[in-house]
Order: sequence, then C-alpha cells, then structure tokens
Amino acid sequence: MPRRPLIAGNWKMYKTISEATSFVEEIIPDCPKGVEVAIAPPFTALYAVSERIKGSLLKLAAQDVFWEDEGAYTGEISPIMLKDIGCDYVIIGHSERRSYFFEDNEAVKKKVSAAIRVGLVPILCVGERVEQRKGGKTFEVVKEQMLSALNGISFTDKVVIAYEPVWAIGTGLTATPEQAQEVHGYLRQLLREEFGKEFSESVRILYGGSVKPENISGLMEKEDIDGALVGGASLKASTFLKIVNYGRI
Ligand code: PGA
Repeated sequence: MPRRPLIAGNWKMYKTISEATSFVEEIIPDCPKGVEVAIAPPFTALYAVSERIKGSLLKLAAQDVFWEDEGAYTGEISPIMLKDIGCDYVIIGHSERRSYFFEDNEAVKKKVSAAIRVGLVPILCVGERVEQRKGGKTFEVVKEQMLSALNGISFTDKVVIAYEPVWAIGTGLTATPEQAQEVHGYLRQLLREEFGKEFSESVRILYGGSVKPENISGLMEKEDIDGALVGGASLKASTFLKIVNYGRI
C-alpha cells in the first residue's frame, strides 16, 4: 500500500482566532484530495478551527500535549482535552520545545504514549543540531530520539515521524532531498528492525525545515519522504496552498 502524503502546517505562536478561521476557510476549497492536509494552530484557536473544518477533509493537530489526563498541572493541556476538541494529531518533541522548554527524550516518550492512549496520532519530531551533524552524530542522535520515544508502543499503533534537522528550521537552509532521504531511509530501516516490515512501511516520515513551494517537489520525489511539516511557509494561505498542491506545480 503506498503511503498517503501528509502535509502539516505548524503555526507555532502565530494567529488569533479570526486569522486562523479565515485561513482555513480560504484553503479548504483548494486542498487536493490525494494529500492529507493538517493544520496545527495555537491552543487558543483549536476549537474555532475545529468547528470550521467540520465536514471538510482538513485535519487538526495540536502543537504539544502534557502526559497526564487531568490533575493539578497549571498551564498544561491533556490528551483527553485535545481529543475532545477534535484533534487528530499532536506534534510532540519539536526542537523548539526541546531547546526552549527543556523537553528531554523521557518527557517526549511520556507524551507519545499519552497521545496514543487516547487515540491521537503523535507527529514525533527528531533532528540533529548543526554541531551534531558536523561531528558525524546525525544518525546516533535521531536514532536515540526516535527509539526512546517509541519504546513501549505496539506495532499496531499509529505514529508519524518528522525529521527536522534543527539547522534547517526557520533558517532558510533546507536539507537537500538527498540529505533528507539519507536520514529518512535510515529511520525507516530502524523502524523495520524494531517493529517489523509492515509497520515500517506504513509509517509516514515527514521532512521539516524551511520547506517552501520551491523545494517541496524535489523532496517529495524521494522514496522515504512522505510529506512535510511546514512552519513559516504555512502562515500564508496562498503559499501553503502551493505546497499542498505540489503535485500540480
Ligand atoms: P520552518 O519550521 O518551516 O519555518 O523551518 C518547520 C518546523 O519548525 O516545523
């Protein structure tokens, strides 16, 4: 079975409710059928976007989640709350969470399990920093990040992996399709060794890091690149539409 491409827009800390709802109204009519499209608005706009996309093919993602279902955790949002609001996906372990909010692999693992427990599909982010790439540590870093986070899940669980080299996020520097494919192929091989062929072939591995209309097609041509996690270029509807319609440009 070929994997259905997934393009997810990660809005980070951008957009008010009205900006978010007008964006989705603009893109819904022009989203292609063959590509799954997801939007990750900030928490404050999730409900309004969820209401607006009902009946459309657009999917909803949150940008983070806590691992407990409820409790005295001021400021946190639980997996059950995200499910309740209509989320399908949740981004976990984004490099900005790891670096600014000190999330380690242990926290990421707990979040992944918690998301799966309630039926949310985690979009697990992994990726090396520039000095790690220069030091020849890329494979080691992404292996540790991915396998520690997936430790304990079952081969019947649904997950999405996003390979996002930290040096490419928001910098305008994209990994070349060859550089990305090398890591994607490696991650898929690891998934195969750990969880079996069927699982490894069903998991979508997205690329993230300065994806734009100009570079999406080249990336999507690669065997193990199944979509993209798009930050900056997902904020403008016309630009994001070009990316999701990459097959037509
Ligand atoms: P970028 O961000 O597309 O702005 O590089 C990607 C991401 O952080 O997921």
